[in-house]
Amino acid sequence: MVDAITVPDIAPRLENQHLPPTPAADQVFASLRNWLAYRHHSLWLHAVRVAISARKTAAILGLSATQCRTVGQAAILHDIGKLLIPRNCFDRSGPLDGLGWQNIQRHPVLGADVLCRYEALGHLVPAVLFHHERWDGRGYPQGLKGDAIPLEARIIAVCDSFDAMTNDRVYRNALSQRAAYAEINAHAGTQFDPNVVSAFLSHTLRTERRPTPNLRHVSHML
Ligand SMILES: [Fe+2]
Repeated sequence: MVDAITVPDIAPRLENQHLPPTPAADQVFASLRNWLAYRHHSLWLHAVRVAISARKTAAILGLSATQCRTVGQAAILHDIGKLLIPRNCFDRSGPLDGLGWQNIQRHPVLGADVLCRYEALGHLVPAVLFHHERWDGRGYPQGLKGDAIPLEARIIAVCDSFDAMTNDRVYRNALSQRAAYAEINAHAGTQFDPNVVSAFLSHTLRTERRPTPNLRHVSHML
């Protein structure tokens, strides 16, 4: 059995999340970022790609520079809770058993719990805690639905899923970008916020270096 854990009380963080980060916040953020890079290189690379994409998506959605920075920093640390669960839960070649899945589902809460220990990083907690919630309310850890999910978390959810799909995992090969675009688009309104999907696709499709006929076909679907 996995120990029950309490979802942190994030109400004060929700109130403060749009305040500019302080120098102390930058220092603590850098320490945790370096810890992640040192402990798990591929998780770190994934986080950087998600952060770049999440910042672009946030800017297209009209978020302020401060909010875009918050989204980028939260994206860097979104999976930091995975450093606190057994590594074979996410670096495995086969399907997860029940206990493994319970452990995986703890990582947003564990990550938020790490950040809650640092007052200066309170503004990153909501995005980290809720990045696996779903637009239709079927996500975790709390089953929040629609606009009740902080926008920063909704942005990271889309960028995280796209990056996970387009990169090899131990247990499966990467999807093509075309297939991943279609997959993201197919889940707009169920798994993902449709507005976030539109913003995400508008920059990823625009920056695609060499559009192929298949990609144009996907663009036509949007
Ligand atoms: Fe995650």
